[in-house]
Amino acid sequence: MKNFKTLVVVGLQWGDEGKGKVVHYLSRNADYIVRYQGGNNAGHTVVVNEKEYILHLVPAGILENKKCVIGNGVVIDPEALYNEINWLNSIGIKVSPKNLFISNHAHVILPYHRFLDAVREKTQNIGTTQKGIGPCYADKYARSGIRICDYLEKDTFLDLVNKNLDEKYPLIKEFISRDELLKKIINQHRLYSNFIKPFVVDTTDLLIKVITSGKKVIFESAQGTMLDVDFGSYPYVTSSNPIAGGIPIGTGLALKYVNKIVGIAKSYTTRVGEGPFPTEIKQQKLQEFLRTQGKEYGATTGRPRRCGWFDSVVVRYAIKINGIDELILTKLDCLKGIEPLKICIAYKYKSKLLYDFPVSRKLQHSVKPVYIKTGGFKENIRGITKYDQLPNNVKKYVQLIEKYCGIKINMISLGRDRNEIIFR
Ligand code: IMO
Ligand code: MG
Repeated sequence: MKNFKTLVVVGLQWGDEGKGKVVHYLSRNADYIVRYQGGNNAGHTVVVNEKEYILHLVPAGILENKKCVIGNGVVIDPEALYNEINWLNSIGIKVSPKNLFISNHAHVILPYHRFLDAVREKTQNIGTTQKGIGPCYADKYARSGIRICDYLEKDTFLDLVNKNLDEKYPLIKEFISRDELLKKIINQHRLYSNFIKPFVVDTTDLLIKVITSGKKVIFESAQGTMLDVDFGSYPYVTSSNPIAGGIPIGTGLALKYVNKIVGIAKSYTTRVGEGPFPTEIKQQKLQEFLRTQGKEYGATTGRPRRCGWFDSVVVRYAIKINGIDELILTKLDCLKGIEPLKICIAYKYKSKLLYDFPVSRKLQHSVKPVYIKTGGFKENIRGITKYDQLPNNVKKYVQLIEKYCGIKINMISLGRDRNEIIFR
């Protein structure tokens, strides 16, 4: 995994696969780490020397002192960015315009987007993170969005804010008066625009120079394939394209610059928020057991994550959509003590077997998983660094995943610390 020019790390399930740890680990071998979609709905957890860091906007490579880029496909909440940069600096991780570069094309999340998120949630019931992500992307495509370059021109910004409020204020008037909202936006702008300005560059030009000069780049996706707005479990998705195909659009880099695509799958499945989840565990006790062992609480919202069995229908689909070259399996240790273990190999609808994730909402909600069972393990497997030293049942579980996903697993993560990794 050291041998790459550019490498993409994508999630193959519904997010929270452990991308933060993997990107942090791999970033040792890279020069630049790039976010290309999503916003501060992401929560990338990295543990260094038993200390936990949760990053929302700044790429996880910052903890390895790498240069970091927030590409044009990301939606940026200036307040969240300001807070995250200040927090990182306050704990001794230096973030400055020398190591963080922000695209002038990226769109800005403003307070009215967060209010709109709350309003829409009432009728849509998607279980969003309430960070204003969906409404901000909606504005981008409706051509009423405000980009970072607009944000930095005060007149342009104020003109656009007023136009947006004319359109949106009637929808959110239950939350705040228009004057108060405008005042809040202007006050925040005064503080954040000067702060952000030195970080803003043409990140596409920067990345082309970086890559053509032979430096190594990792693209860090947020969310996961099943949350992709085009290919996920629509409408229970996020509003961007976490899949590898999101990179050219979200960075401005031509297709030829993307070389290697690494997929991350957790050893079981979780999802936060609403939406279909065929392999969700129905027994309350087991669901809670797995949630506790996996510390499955949302890194962004603190919500308990829904837990389920490994779903090879989902992962096979994600491998196909992303064109995965290498697979990394995470959190294998968290399955300790569960007997038996189950892996979903297909879905059943009425009496028909389905091997692909269905596109129909009706089917997504009504398919029944078909499982194979295999023996569990009681041993503590954290700390093991050689595949051969794993208990037989663990190896069998890994091999079954490989069999049903049709791909070899190159790396297994079994613990929160970055050295708790097995290479194969
Ligand atoms: P990382 O990068 C898990 C989910 C939300 C909700 C849906 C839409 O940590 O894997 P949004 O606020 O994006 O409009 O919400 O997407 N969601 C995530 N779930 N991990 C994430 O990011 C997520 N980002 C969004 O819970 O169901
Ligand atoms: Mg998350």
